Amino acid sequence: MAVTLTVNGRRRTVAAAPETPLLYILRNDLELNAAKFGCGMAQCGACTVLVNGRPLRSCVTPALAVADTKITTLEGLGSASNLHPLQKAFIDEQAAQCGYCIAGMLMSAKALLDETPHPTEAEIRQALAGNLCRCGTHNRIVGAVLRAARDMGGTIGGRT
Ligand code: FES
Ligand code: FES
Repeated sequence: MAVTLTVNGRRRTVAAAPETPLLYILRNDLELNAAKFGCGMAQCGACTVLVNGRPLRSCVTPALAVADTKITTLEGLGSASNLHPLQKAFIDEQAAQCGYCIAGMLMSAKALLDETPHPTEAEIRQALAGNLCRCGTHNRIVGAVLRAARDMGGTIGGRT
């Protein structure tokens, strides 16, 4: 069977069963490898992508469920030569150790800033609460999101 998805603005058709998890199609068929397989059970957030602008766990989302949506992965956010402010802020704050969680963190942070351009630190922590980082870089990640909001023109409260 074939599944057609709209990913990062492009219509893509792949041979896959409709119940195939979106993450598998992104990584295995579309070679979009930013989203990671962590737990496979909607527990860690490493596989987070945006669906119609909202964060979604792609490891447990059947492809058919997102066939008529706009899917955005980290690859659709920015590029090495044209970084999204969030990506730049994560680099500037060195908000990663192994990096495994970072794509999911960035996508959750993107959804937050789209909806709340001036988030407080508490709002950032709340928005990223479902994204786990085993390396313990949460404080730097929160700092990076604060920096990105500032760089994007948001007037935000300082860190608590
Ligand atoms: S891999 Fe999807 S939430 Fe952990
Ligand atoms: S930087 Fe390693 S899991 Fe977050």
